[in-house]
Amino acid sequence: MWFKPWKQNTESTDQVAMDRLPRHIAIIMDGNGRWAQKRALPRSMGHRSGVEALRKVVKACSKLGIEVLTVYAFSTENWKRPKDEVGVLMTLLTEYLRKELQELHQNNVIIRTMGKINDLPLEAQRELAHSIKSTRDNTGLVLNLALNYGGRSEIIDAVRKLSKEVLNGKQRIEEIDEHCFSETLYTQGLPDPDLLIRTSGEMRLSNFLLWQLAYTEIVIVEELWPDFGQKALLEAIKAYQKRDRRFGGIHTS
Ligand code: FPP
Repeated sequence: MWFKPWKQNTESTDQVAMDRLPRHIAIIMDGNGRWAQKRALPRSMGHRSGVEALRKVVKACSKLGIEVLTVYAFSTENWKRPKDEVGVLMTLLTEYLRKELQELHQNNVIIRTMGKINDLPLEAQRELAHSIKSTRDNTGLVLNLALNYGGRSEIIDAVRKLSKEVLNGKQRIEEIDEHCFSETLYTQGLPDPDLLIRTSGEMRLSNFLLWQLAYTEIVIVEELWPDFGQKALLEAIKAYQKRDRRFGGIHTS
């Protein structure tokens, strides 16, 4: 089945194959600062425009029927930024949830988070709890917000959890396998990402989903995150669909 979801002013003639969509898309939303710098604007304006790009991408994923969209909104390392910038990011998060909840509902989106949420400002925590609770019965796109998230600390948390279970007799060491470990991570119950998109041309994982990205196809795009939208998303999906995924095996035919 082939589908051209929106009228696009695009030079490429090929279309997104709707029967081969990635189930789970993960995005490293990079380049807000550079976007602002190029326009001689404060970095906060870059982040504000980044929220707008996120809004568009969530809507596009939802329309396409993507199951899960995980976005790297705030890493454990982002606390090192100036206090003002951290404050702006937290305020934008709270504002986004307040302003968008209704539209997210209309798009049947389920909100979920991963990361050390208890260390976020109380207002953001309250807004997140409210959004999660009010969207939990929806059945569409899962929007997984990585907040105060770090891949290494996620793995350490899982090791600690499993170790405790071994010590109190609830887990047998011999039964710890890849599936069991995956189900102990923050992404419990979600498929691993099929496609990772990173904007602004950088080629790093930046401590994002270190376990889950083992067989993920990576698409790096030059656009800065605030310039990313539904057209760029479709291009990234088309690039993904041209890849030959073998998961370490070979094709036999
Ligand atoms: C990277 O750009 C982006 C971030 C650290 C934050 C991403 C946040 C948003 C898109 C908006 C807030 C999110 C929500 C969920 C409301 P950068 O600042 O590192 O850019 P640079 O590398 O060009 O400086």
